[in-house]
Amino acid sequence: MNDLLGDWKRSHYCGQVTAADIGKEVCLMGWVQRRRDHGGLIFIDLRDREGIIQLALDPDRDPEAHQKADRVRNEFVLAIKGVVSPRPEGTVNTKMKTGEVEIEISDLRVLNAAKTPPFMLDEYSEVAENIRLKHRYLDLRRSAVQHNLILRHQATRTARNYLDAQGFLEIETPMLTKSTPEGARDYLVPSRVNPGQFYALPQSPQLFKQLLMVSGFDRYCQIVKCFRDEDLRADRQPEFTQIDCEMSFVDRDDVMNIMEGMIAAIFKETIGVDITLPVPRMTYAEAMDRYGVDNPDLRFALELIDITSLVAESGFKVFADVAAKGGLVKALNAKGCASFSRKELDDLTAFVAIYGAKGLAWVKMTEEGWQSPVAKFFTSDELAALNKSLDAEIGDLLLFVADSARVANESLGRLRSHLGQKLGLADRNVYKFAWVTDFPLLEWDGEERRHVAVHHPFTAPLDEDISLLDSEPGKARAKAYDLVLNGSEIGGGSIRIHDQAVQSKMFDLLGIGQEEARSKFGFLLDALEYGAPPHGGIAFGLDRLTMILTGSDSIRDVIAFPKTQKATCLMSEAPGFVDEKQLRELSIRVAARAKQP
Ligand code: AMO
Ligand code: AMP
Repeated sequence: MNDLLGDWKRSHYCGQVTAADIGKEVCLMGWVQRRRDHGGLIFIDLRDREGIIQLALDPDRDPEAHQKADRVRNEFVLAIKGVVSPRPEGTVNTKMKTGEVEIEISDLRVLNAAKTPPFMLDEYSEVAENIRLKHRYLDLRRSAVQHNLILRHQATRTARNYLDAQGFLEIETPMLTKSTPEGARDYLVPSRVNPGQFYALPQSPQLFKQLLMVSGFDRYCQIVKCFRDEDLRADRQPEFTQIDCEMSFVDRDDVMNIMEGMIAAIFKETIGVDITLPVPRMTYAEAMDRYGVDNPDLRFALELIDITSLVAESGFKVFADVAAKGGLVKALNAKGCASFSRKELDDLTAFVAIYGAKGLAWVKMTEEGWQSPVAKFFTSDELAALNKSLDAEIGDLLLFVADSARVANESLGRLRSHLGQKLGLADRNVYKFAWVTDFPLLEWDGEERRHVAVHHPFTAPLDEDISLLDSEPGKARAKAYDLVLNGSEIGGGSIRIHDQAVQSKMFDLLGIGQEEARSKFGFLLDALEYGAPPHGGIAFGLDRLTMILTGSDSIRDVIAFPKTQKATCLMSEAPGFVDEKQLRELSIRVAARAKQP
């Protein structure tokens, strides 16, 4: 390789040569994107991470270089020398950064040959994702994916600079640790020297960052990998990255103010968008009431309307029964959607069924009034009251779900997002933020028949709700906050419990006995007794944030080497079987195998 390069030194990145360089002698290195032979005249598009430039080889000017270029194929690695020239009239490409110029080659070296890649590396070819992931190192040559990773770098750099300026210290925490209760399953690592014992990979650095506050570091941050063995979705990976922060002597406002400043800095720096601060806030209760979910997409209205009281006495038994049982009847007005077909309405019904809704009553607003299978159940007064409450006009489609509060909110809330997408209301270039606050502290887990922490067990209750812990713990609200952007939870955190007695009570409520609490979090309980400052923090999902900044549909498009939905890496073929010898050393016997090796 050194021999091939000789004394050649690269002068520019391919993508950075412009009309301002016309007349200059340059030395470029990169990959062949495309070679075209125009009967003697050869054109090569040479690519590096900054872009693509056109090279022109005239057999008359340099027969030797021309001959070498003749052998060149896609993805060969070249070094070239030449002069930057204006492109001939009529061949200027305004879509390319370098489209006004080309390089008249004077010398060319083939630094490496390449096999024909298994797929085209341009922007236009649709390639199955499994093939791209198997050859990810080639897929990553494509400018779209490179762009995402470069933007991700800019986002982390901005976060680091911002946090540094705010006095945060970046401190690493262990990867081989004990289980942190973040709600997902742990990834375990067997300990060879302690047979039968396991480390857990951190679901987050939660406990360590709190301990760093007890130690007096005051402000901590870390851009850190977290591991959660949970079912994967379009915005979830088993290993993902957090921008993780913790601060001492602060309340919720302090954390939210500092952190929204960081997010605004990231938006400005990466995509040049100005975020209006302060970010609006809404309570969890308001989010559920108006949008049915705790991560509302605020790019469009389409709010849920509670009509329970209007239909409680009505002749429609489904609605009246739900109201009588303390459930909710909620509705959406899909403006202008009265033209939906029977099939579309059936699809919407099937959609809400996913979230447990037993039906979706619909009404088309026509010149003649309600066109609906349920119109006959309502008096004209009731119809008038519903129309008023829903702001129903001719051409609108009204959609209703009656169920428990949970099902009515979730199913209609999801339907709202679904309709927002379907109707094109969710513009990718619009960014709507909100802090959602005052989450419930606890949630009842019907299956396990106990309370679980909504955020995590270290989150403090609202001061005014502490007394509820003894009477009605399910009603207590938490000093927790999520940052929601365009319907995605991009960050979440809380003020922590810094008092050992409250922390013990919290474990009690969660059904974690004293012994279990000691064995799992004894070190935290101890630390809280040695002068823990009031503290709180937050973690942002860097992958999710980057998805939104780059307009990506999949979290895999913003991670260099992502896992599939089945948590595998198609390139390295992880996870894999290991030798008997390795297992023996770890004192592990395997009970079941996915398939024989
Ligand atoms: P939480 O569990 O809310 O909080 O996580 C913080 C943020 O991390 C992102 N995130 C994920 N991103 C991709 N794949 C996943 N599987 C995944 N899981 C979570 C989300 C989420 O908002 N220790 C607390 C923070 C704190 O209290 O300070 C925590 O981890 O964007
Ligand atoms: P039925 O009386 O069961 O034929 O239902 C009449 C209409 O009410 C149908 O359009 C159903 O989809 C709808 N429906 C039934 N149950 C519910 C419910 N729980 N919430 C909203 N609509 C419902």
